[in-house]
Amino acid sequence: MTVKIQVENLTKIFGRNPKTVLTRLKNGDSKDAIFKETGHTVGLNNVSFEVNTGETFVIMGLSGSGKSTLARCLNLLNTPTEGKIHVDGSNIVEYNKNELREFRQKKVGMVFQHFGLFTHRTVIGNVEYGLEVRGVSTQERSEIAKKTLDTVGLEGWEYRYPRELSGGMRQRVGLARALANDPDILLMDEPFSALDPLIRRDMQLELLDIQAKLKKTIVFITHDVNEAFKLGDRVAVMKDGVIEQIGVPEEILAQPANDYIADFVQDVDKTKILQAKNIMVKPNALVSLKDGLKVAVKEMQTNGISSVFVVDSERKLQGLVTIDDTIAAIKEGKTLKEILIKEYETTSAGTCIQELIPIATYKKYPIAVVDEENKFMGIIMRVSVLAALI
Ligand SMILES: Nc1ncnc2c1ncn2[C@@H]1O[C@H](COP(=O)(O)OP(=O)(O)O)[C@@H](O)[C@H]1O
Ligand SMILES: [Mg+2]
Repeated sequence: MTVKIQVENLTKIFGRNPKTVLTRLKNGDSKDAIFKETGHTVGLNNVSFEVNTGETFVIMGLSGSGKSTLARCLNLLNTPTEGKIHVDGSNIVEYNKNELREFRQKKVGMVFQHFGLFTHRTVIGNVEYGLEVRGVSTQERSEIAKKTLDTVGLEGWEYRYPRELSGGMRQRVGLARALANDPDILLMDEPFSALDPLIRRDMQLELLDIQAKLKKTIVFITHDVNEAFKLGDRVAVMKDGVIEQIGVPEEILAQPANDYIADFVQDVDKTKILQAKNIMVKPNALVSLKDGLKVAVKEMQTNGISSVFVVDSERKLQGLVTIDDTIAAIKEGKTLKEILIKEYETTSAGTCIQELIPIATYKKYPIAVVDEENKFMGIIMRVSVLAALI
């Protein structure tokens, strides 16, 4: 894993004389107090984080928390008052004019909530714009633009005008325009927030698809926690210009750092975030084929359970036996192998709990979690699935 963007102690203050306010901020004065006493607005307060190459890093927070200010610092549309922003190891805050132009044209693409399309240009004209500015030949930029429009599902719409398109399609154009330059980094500031819920869902899925193919480094901004958790590899939660918590969705969901974040995640549909691995447990008892019937009975009795999973010498799952069958088998002189039950459910560690609900509710045995080689990793009890719903 390599670090693509490294932000260090980034502070942005808006107002006539930002530097004079820094000391107050460092002394712990609040954003409100600073505004009342000096008329300066704290946009970002000592923000530090890293984004890995190929990662989708989501910045989430209520309106006014500093999300856009942060995104605009990342391509220097906002000049930081203090702090460093390393991209691929070089501090972009120190870039001269030429370096900055190069950076904006080639390394980073931006998608906004309100599309920002040129109304007098066709769809393809909009997508070609960045390439045109860079002096790419007419033929080449038309080829690239067409290919990019295909990627975002807009083939056939090249020569229409933005006004002829729906909101969702306009945002696809916005995305295509950013992608046409083939930037390493995509900054997306609430790109789907103005869209209807269903279209928004489509766009989220589309972005996941595109990202799976293109593997850009994405900084995605949203105020919607469900969107944040659906798209983000990791999520940073902001409040009043400060990052309050950074973590993978499961972490933030399971251990919100404070009440503000707890409030945020309250509305999340946990079953779409939590995965089998988050609720599976190591079974108290496990029997190996070579152990035999008596060991199996003992295991079940000592642990007070009525069935137990059976693995082979490589821990690959072979089946499950019940206490009744095992006791009967001893009397009848059968082997453990002969009484193995094969009708149980297995799942992988990465499966969403949502998909497990129907299985867990109707089956009498726990669900077995196995890896790609069918090695036994743990079990999921029905009660754990139900507990995750609360
Ligand atoms: N150009 C600006 N001039 C003065 N204050 C600004 C400017 N841009 C943003 N702010 C202030 O900075 C804070 C963060 O704003 P913003 O980054 O737009 O929040 P968000 O995107 O999370 O809604 C807010 O208090 C906002 O009023
Ligand atoms: Mg904003």
